[in-house]
Amino acid sequence: MAEPKLTSVEELDVAAAEAELARLAAEIAAADAAYFQRDAPEISDADYDALRARNAAIEARFPELRRDDSPSNRVGAAPADGFAKAEHAVPMLSLGNVFDAEELSDFVASVRRYLSLAPEAALAFAAEPKIDGLSLSLRYENRQLTLAATRGDGAVGEDVTRNARTIADIPTELPDRAPDLFEVRGEVYMSKSDFAALNARQAEKGAKTFANPRNAAAGSLRQLDSAITAERPLRFFAYSWGAASDLPADTQMGVLAHFKEWGFSVNPLTRRCADAEALLAHYQAIGAERAALDYDIDGVVYKVDRLDLQERLGFRSRTPRWATAHKFPAEQAQTILEAIEIQVGRTGSLTPVARLRPVTVGGVVVSNATLHNADYIAGVGSDGAPIREGRDLRIGDVVTVQRAGDVIPQIVDLDLAQRPEAAEPYRFPEICPECGSAARREPGESVTRCTGGLTCPAQAVERLKHFVSRDAVDIDGLGAKQVEALFQDKWILQPADIYTLETRYGAGQPSQLKNREGWGERSAQKLFEAIAARKGLPLDKFIFSLGVRHVGEGSAKMLARRYQQWAAFADAMTQAGAERAAQEAGYHQSLADWRASQAERDAEADAEAAAPKPPKRPKLSDAGEHMRALLDIDGVGETMAVALADFFGEPHNQESVRRLLAEVAPEPFDAPPAQASPVSGKTVVFTGKLERMSRSEAKSRAESLGAHVAGSVSAKTDIVIAGPGAGSKLKKAEELGLTVMTEEAWLEFLGDA
Ligand code: IVH
Repeated sequence: MAEPKLTSVEELDVAAAEAELARLAAEIAAADAAYFQRDAPEISDADYDALRARNAAIEARFPELRRDDSPSNRVGAAPADGFAKAEHAVPMLSLGNVFDAEELSDFVASVRRYLSLAPEAALAFAAEPKIDGLSLSLRYENRQLTLAATRGDGAVGEDVTRNARTIADIPTELPDRAPDLFEVRGEVYMSKSDFAALNARQAEKGAKTFANPRNAAAGSLRQLDSAITAERPLRFFAYSWGAASDLPADTQMGVLAHFKEWGFSVNPLTRRCADAEALLAHYQAIGAERAALDYDIDGVVYKVDRLDLQERLGFRSRTPRWATAHKFPAEQAQTILEAIEIQVGRTGSLTPVARLRPVTVGGVVVSNATLHNADYIAGVGSDGAPIREGRDLRIGDVVTVQRAGDVIPQIVDLDLAQRPEAAEPYRFPEICPECGSAARREPGESVTRCTGGLTCPAQAVERLKHFVSRDAVDIDGLGAKQVEALFQDKWILQPADIYTLETRYGAGQPSQLKNREGWGERSAQKLFEAIAARKGLPLDKFIFSLGVRHVGEGSAKMLARRYQQWAAFADAMTQAGAERAAQEAGYHQSLADWRASQAERDAEADAEAAAPKPPKRPKLSDAGEHMRALLDIDGVGETMAVALADFFGEPHNQESVRRLLAEVAPEPFDAPPAQASPVSGKTVVFTGKLERMSRSEAKSRAESLGAHVAGSVSAKTDIVIAGPGAGSKLKKAEELGLTVMTEEAWLEFLGDA
């Protein structure tokens, strides 16, 4: 199976991010179902954690794309086949949010308005910590626990009664004074210390560890085997209710007092507050205590205390009017940025990671934070607008680190006043730290990428998988799994090694393929034969199989058609690569000069001297004639031109391709037999609007008749076909005195008008 290549999160655009989140939601749901419902995990914990981490990272970058069914909202699986479904007599709803004092007073004002309370009329609230666990509804019929149901989608949950019975905080029986029918609702959670101990035990057993106490609580409650749940230290706080034949009190606080009497735990930080001011004071008090609490809370819930008023206020579609949640802001701490390290991803992206002096942020020790890319370090956001007011990050800076939920920690600010005098702007590497190849940014991209794809250890295995894949060289018996294993053991490090496998690991050699796990005499022999059968390759396949970024099968074919022979293609690409490398080197030199002049100005505090502008990135088309020729090919844009030039300009790749060419011979492009036509061998350019057919149809028809279709007009152009709206190309053609035709005349000329 071909493994999808992952684009790094920083370079996803909105559409790609949205598609990724959909894919991740589905994959995580499938993995959850396997793990929780069938007790048969299908992927490793590490892979699972990687999926969740990627999902969280994408959501952190695109909070507005967060899905309703986001895996981050969901712990464990949706109504499981393994658990019976349980319909809630009264739906289990969620809460609205407020985030600051102003929104809090708006909430109180809106409640007062709805009830048309006179200004002097009292309106008290119950304020309770918002426990970060999972909600559970406990149904007592004739004071016996008959059903424990998770929230599910709010209307239908899962029957986890057997498991709930194992939780010490949940009475299986209520005292005689309790009503005949009563559903107690509350939160199942795990304490931070129990969570840490559980994870330690799990790790020791080699079993799955949990990301946080909430996941651990959910995973433990949703076990098909209640004996496992019984071993897990789950707890429960009661705070609400569903169906009830009678209510024991007429206020929220009063009902909670009865819960306590009936044997439930009620959160001890619950207070009755007379007004918005008191709510805010209690919110701040709880916030101050938060880190010291042995359980996670993510805010404070305010509920109108009088139940008759709750009744009058009622519900909006999914949330009560009588309650809201006041969320805590993301947790922050200050520390020192000790180093910036570069990680090279499997697609060659260079991702800077901040190494921080370890600091506790909301109870978790943080020592790394993502820095995304060069712009982010320089103080430029993904939309080009300044972040941190444009301040760049330097090693030694005192920085503010933020952690929100499961999300990877971020550096949100720095303190310029505390910047060490010697701190210098960070210079993003121009060389891949893994392999020493040039690292470059694509036009318009923020990500910097290693160009040494074929040999860079971080990327080579992905390139090899691509090389052997069905649409590329397609070697029978050599799939992603085999490549991965042979790469691990360094039997195959780059494509050429595939072709020398038999010489090195065939019959008579000290180590032999047939003796490897998963291989035998026959399969090894068959593989050697399959490899030998691929020593000749069509030119387009060969180009595609090199795995140059942005060069898909179609582009490879287009390039093969254009150049016909490998030598012509390789020569053109290598020259364009040299031009691009020289241009980049010049640009980086002028950047360095500019930086030096800046530093000089700073040192002299020469405010009078005009600030020199930073050098502009040069235009690609100015790199040289070969680059221009490449850009002139219809279908080659700047992105592909750069990818080709960077690939073929990189000496590591040149060497790797040279080795490969010692083993394989790309065949000249097998052009469809050019019909004898008036345009064969002619270079034509289409410009303006075509009325009889699409641009691509016109192009492929011209090509099938042996013409070469170019993207721009030059002295080498033979015919320009100009439709309505034609502009500069038409003008240039006229200036050069070229043959210009209408679409009609062109078709007539071809003889098929
Ligand atoms: S009251 C109709 N009180 O927060 C309102 N919920 O965002 C019912 N939660 O699904 C909820 N602590 O899982 C309420 N003291 C508390 C809570 C609490 C945690 C959770 C609960 C609910 C979610 C709503």
